[in-house]
Amino acid sequence: MTDRYAVVGNPIAHSKSPIIHAEFARRTGEPIVYERLLAPLDGFAATVARFAAEGGKGLNVTVPFKVEAFAMATACTERARLAKAVNTLKRVGDHWHADNTDGAGLVHDLIENLGVTLTGRRVAVLGAGGAAHGILKPILDAKPAEVVVANRTPASAAALVQDFGRHGPVTAVAPRDLGGRTFDVVINATSFGMREGDPGPAPCPGSIFAPGSFAYDLVYPQTDVPTPFVAFARASGAVRAADGLGMLIEQAAESFFIWRGVRPDTTSMFTLLRGHPRVD
Ligand code: ATR
Repeated sequence: MTDRYAVVGNPIAHSKSPIIHAEFARRTGEPIVYERLLAPLDGFAATVARFAAEGGKGLNVTVPFKVEAFAMATACTERARLAKAVNTLKRVGDHWHADNTDGAGLVHDLIENLGVTLTGRRVAVLGAGGAAHGILKPILDAKPAEVVVANRTPASAAALVQDFGRHGPVTAVAPRDLGGRTFDVVINATSFGMREGDPGPAPCPGSIFAPGSFAYDLVYPQTDVPTPFVAFARASGAVRAADGLGMLIEQAAESFFIWRGVRPDTTSMFTLLRGHPRVD
């Protein structure tokens, strides 16, 4: 009996999730198939309902439906509730159980794969949109000394601090007020560099990278070139920098675990997706 899973989004043709989950199925021996589902912009709920009616067991949800998926779920984890966005749905009886594995994927990639320490460190999160919401709780759970959120629109950063303040030491500053401060870990959760062409000004001053600091870009490139934020961070003195492909792999592993109860080995997934080992 083969169970059906899929990633639903719009657009969806570029998604690497089917390749990742096919490899996880091969490595674990779990009998699953994993497809791409293109939902019309006004047809997310109908697409999900059809998939459920056809016996689908689980979904990954991507742009632009993560918030709609949160509204639709009948039960969700604390991290999904705090994120107000959902990237994983699991069919349980007649209901969808929702989770958000993005932040766990990021923290797993940082700590386990890249050897970056978050505990006791100064962390800057650039951006205060959906991506920032998704990562903040798992970052705070790692017990950093402080997390400073900087966003172009200060009100959004203030709202984020309001939501997450009771979970750890998080404050908001205007990006220009980052000048003169340095951080051990700088995470780009803005859409800077997501579109092709000139990305415009960077979302933080180049002076914020402390000696030995690590920069992480949630954006991942479709090709093997550094993302604009990774390039900016390296040029500004960050000792190491990584793009979000590792997070993509690890959030997928976390979803796979939710669905199947088995955590796939993610070793050398980079080579599969990029054609060469990781060089962050
Ligand atoms: P996502 O779900 O990917 O976080 P979003 O909710 O649209 O997408 O949020 C995008 C984030 O990137 C926001 O924090 C946005 O800043 P504003 O709140 O001021 O709009 C930020 N952002 C987008 N483009 C940016 C750029 N070129 N420089 C700096 N910040 C940018």
